[in-house]
Amino acid sequence: MKPQAAESIAYAMEADARLLPILPDLLVDLEDLGPAPKQVVSLFKALRLKRESLVLDLGCGKGAVAVALAEHLGLRVEGIDAFPPFLRAARALRRV
Ligand SMILES: C[S@@+](CC[C@H](N)C(=O)[O-])C[C@H]1O[C@@H](n2cnc3c(N)ncnc32)[C@H](O)[C@@H]1O
Repeated sequence: MKPQAAESIAYAMEADARLLPILPDLLVDLEDLGPAPKQVVSLFKALRLKRESLVLDLGCGKGAVAVALAEHLGLRVEGIDAFPPFLRAARALRRV
């Protein structure tokens, strides 16, 4: 991983970059790493997007928000994340 990516991930996770190798283990029991998926679903519900609308989740982490938007609102969500261990966890949740 490029140093810039590591710094960006560490910054987003409010962690020291030296912790990145063990971050997946430290956060193994946490699915959502940011705002509560329920709250994000409420915000998106108010937007009244058509089902099947495509949403881009930049910094999707382990995919908790992406999956909640897809399951509760029928949105299609494309998730992007720079941290491979989180992406692997997100892919494991992916339904389609
Ligand atoms: C606070 S977490 C939020 C994860 C997710 N949105 C959630 O709510 O569970 C921030 C995420 O941004 C990702 N990230 C940080 N910098 C990034 C970058 N430059 N490109 C892509 N993802 C990045 C991190 O790897 C991390 O998964």
